[in-house]
Amino acid sequence: MVHDILSKSTTMSENSINSWLELVKTVDYNDACVELKKRAKKKKGSLVSYAKRRAKSKARAISIGKNETDSNENIVLLDIGTEDPFIFDELVNSYGLKYKNLHAINVRMYEGTNYGLLPEDTSKLKFNFKWYDGKKIPYNDNTFDIVSLFMVFHHIPYTEQQSFIVEIHRVMKKRGRLIIKEHDIKNKTSLNIIKFEHVIYDKILEENDGDFTPENIYGRSKRKLIELFTDNNRFKLLHHTKVSNNYKAYNRSFYMTLEKK
Ligand SMILES: C[S@@+](CC[C@H](N)C(=O)[O-])C[C@H]1O[C@@H](n2cnc3c(N)ncnc32)[C@H](O)[C@@H]1O
Repeated sequence: MVHDILSKSTTMSENSINSWLELVKTVDYNDACVELKKRAKKKKGSLVSYAKRRAKSKARAISIGKNETDSNENIVLLDIGTEDPFIFDELVNSYGLKYKNLHAINVRMYEGTNYGLLPEDTSKLKFNFKWYDGKKIPYNDNTFDIVSLFMVFHHIPYTEQQSFIVEIHRVMKKRGRLIIKEHDIKNKTSLNIIKFEHVIYDKILEENDGDFTPENIYGRSKRKLIELFTDNNRFKLLHHTKVSNNYKAYNRSFYMTLEKK
């Protein structure tokens, strides 16, 4: 059963989705987790090497999105919702940014959580890391040339999304660049798939002792996300990538670059 679901989830076309969702309702998440762990070992190597590969593509998105006139060693960057240090190593080693100019924040949603690949003692990290309350970004106005927000926005409750955007805008310099990676959640079906994947993903990482509830996803379509960020003349959209038609959920994501007006 779990085999069926997992193999279908990576090869599915849009019209077979409903029958797949019927199967998903019956899934035993613990079984699915054991199976996924086996696959992760076989296919992707360790979570660390998988994270390093993802860090490379995020660092590349940042380098493409940056303002051409900024010299890399002076760029002051904030990554919001950081879970792993590799993106910073990649920015320093491959693109010449400086650790002292790199800042990262996250919210501690669950006590005792090791947050992906962050060490327990974050004071030993080479870049600047702060826990914060998820609402008031702990930096002054006009501080950053670049803000990156990778796979975070769908965790911000609908009622808080507007003020979250205002906060990001506040800490950015004029003509600073905001680089976003997000899911394109354009209907109930894609929302259900993303929820399902989050439950499984959490169990694999054993992050929250299985406390994660699928309701923690506040999906937006790509079109709506662009509308939200460009609303009120705050940001101008400079660039966005295509979303794949493949229903493998993590492929149904895209990058966009916005400029603070
Ligand atoms: C799917 S993970 C993405 C992690 C990482 N950015 C990446 O791309 O691999 C979502 C992250 O968003 C963080 N998050 C949720 N609400 C947040 C908020 N209000 N401010 C900052 N981060 C938040 C979570 O703690 C979690 O680390």
